[in-house]
Amino acid sequence: MSVSNSTQERKKITTLSLVRKKAQKQPVTMLTAYDYATALAIDRAGIDSILVGDSLGMVVLGYENTLPVTMEDMIHHCQAVARGARYALLIGDMPFMSYQASVNEAVRNAGRFLKEGGMDAVKLEGGRERLPAIEAIISAGIPVQGHLGLTPQSVHLLGGFRAQGKTADAARKLIDDAHALQEAGCFSLVLETIPARLARLLSERLEIPTIGIGAGVGCDGQVLVTHDLLGLFDRFTPRFVKKYADLHGEMAQAFIAYKADVENSTFPAEEHSIEMPEEEWEKFIEELG
Ligand code: KIV
Repeated sequence: MSVSNSTQERKKITTLSLVRKKAQKQPVTMLTAYDYATALAIDRAGIDSILVGDSLGMVVLGYENTLPVTMEDMIHHCQAVARGARYALLIGDMPFMSYQASVNEAVRNAGRFLKEGGMDAVKLEGGRERLPAIEAIISAGIPVQGHLGLTPQSVHLLGGFRAQGKTADAARKLIDDAHALQEAGCFSLVLETIPARLARLLSERLEIPTIGIGAGVGCDGQVLVTHDLLGLFDRFTPRFVKKYADLHGEMAQAFIAYKADVENSTFPAEEHSIEMPEEEWEKFIEELG
């Protein structure tokens, strides 16, 4: 599909569209966005789903990890994304401590993503320990995407941003968690940084679509952090990322060129300036004395 303004034949993507895509063996596409302009470009490219990820904290707000991100940060950025995207399924990522402390808080915060943030669904991290929150959120009519494997909100528990599911025991636990989340009614699962063979096996055994990030090609779909894909996040690039552009480099070049233009007085040029009609200018000067 080419990038275009023509949107006549397009339909809004729903959670059911994703499940249908899996049944038809069509890969699901998903990217993160945090602002209006990026959401608009992703939507126009025909990407199925936009995740307003709590990766916001690292790639936009400059934190070391995702833990400081608040509900207010997330709602603010969800609203901007919702203004830019019409067709993609919009998923809001529940930030650290917005769903862990109590089921009531989890439901209330999940509701804010739909009511205030303009999202269609929420995502939250964790396995069976999150079932009470997940079940309550779904009972409130809010679709939930699960997230297993490397769950960045548990970075300190995991001892860093490390691959998960690499032992037989860990793989078994992941399979059990995935089935429990499916049973609880999750419409999809993100699988982050787990062995490709394990992700393929999981994807074959589950009815709901798996969306992989660093989990190989055997998942039912893929997601990347858009700032990684565009080469906008300069601090580090995970091994599983394919960089499709070097926007950080291009931005730096543009800023250097602008600085030189201003310092040489070659910007603004005549075409960037406006003028008063001649007779108005003369009248003005004459009256000014
Ligand atoms: O926050 C995020 O961007 C995510 C993706 C890495 C799946 O959770």
